[in-house]
Amino acid sequence: MKFFIDTASLEQIKEANDLGILDGVTTNPSLMAKEGISGKEDVLKHYVDICNIVDGDVSAEVIATDFEGMVREGEELAALHKQIVVKIPMIKDGVKALRYFSDKGIKTNCTLIFSPGQALLAAKAGATYVSPFIGRLDDVSTNGVDLIAQIVHIYENYGYPTQVLAASIRHTMHIIQCAEVGAHVATCPLSSILGLLKHPLTDIGLEKFLADHKKSQKTPVAG
Ligand code: E4P
Repeated sequence: MKFFIDTASLEQIKEANDLGILDGVTTNPSLMAKEGISGKEDVLKHYVDICNIVDGDVSAEVIATDFEGMVREGEELAALHKQIVVKIPMIKDGVKALRYFSDKGIKTNCTLIFSPGQALLAAKAGATYVSPFIGRLDDVSTNGVDLIAQIVHIYENYGYPTQVLAASIRHTMHIIQCAEVGAHVATCPLSSILGLLKHPLTDIGLEKFLADHKKSQKTPVAG
């Protein structure tokens, strides 16, 4: 399973990248706003800065909701850097834009996926990735991970190359559950990634190993 980080924070992206396990980055307009990035020039520069940290796909979302606007914005984003993936919302004009970019060989990530039907449509339109939002489904008492499993199953039935990118991950268990059902990618907050490495028995074990080592290193008193 590929690991993407779900943030626009350069600091957090660097921290995850330094671990040597990072395959890409996803952003959205809310994450960009959280970092205080506004104004077209700053937004475009920020995407390039992200691409220069990570060697992998970087999703940059269009703001337009009409076909022509999405094409215009998407082409500008894609021209910024070869790692840019144009992120398109699952709406009618979005499906047309997915087909447009797919025909041009430009990578896309279809966002705001909440049903298997939407994922099927995005795959038919040639999306590189689909982003089902599992945390937001959990928030409305629907099992988000079940949707990941359904989409993986449907794509396998027909051999669609579209990759299932589990998004809206809220905690470490979501990552494990997505891996269990075969998500191709999980995009995660840094805290959820770091959560994977924690176990109290690891800490207790390490403490004991170090204490035993220290004891064995004591110089014997000369007699
Ligand atoms: C990433 O592609 C999504 O935009 C993001 O995971 C949404 O996460 P949220 O539901 O926590 O806002």
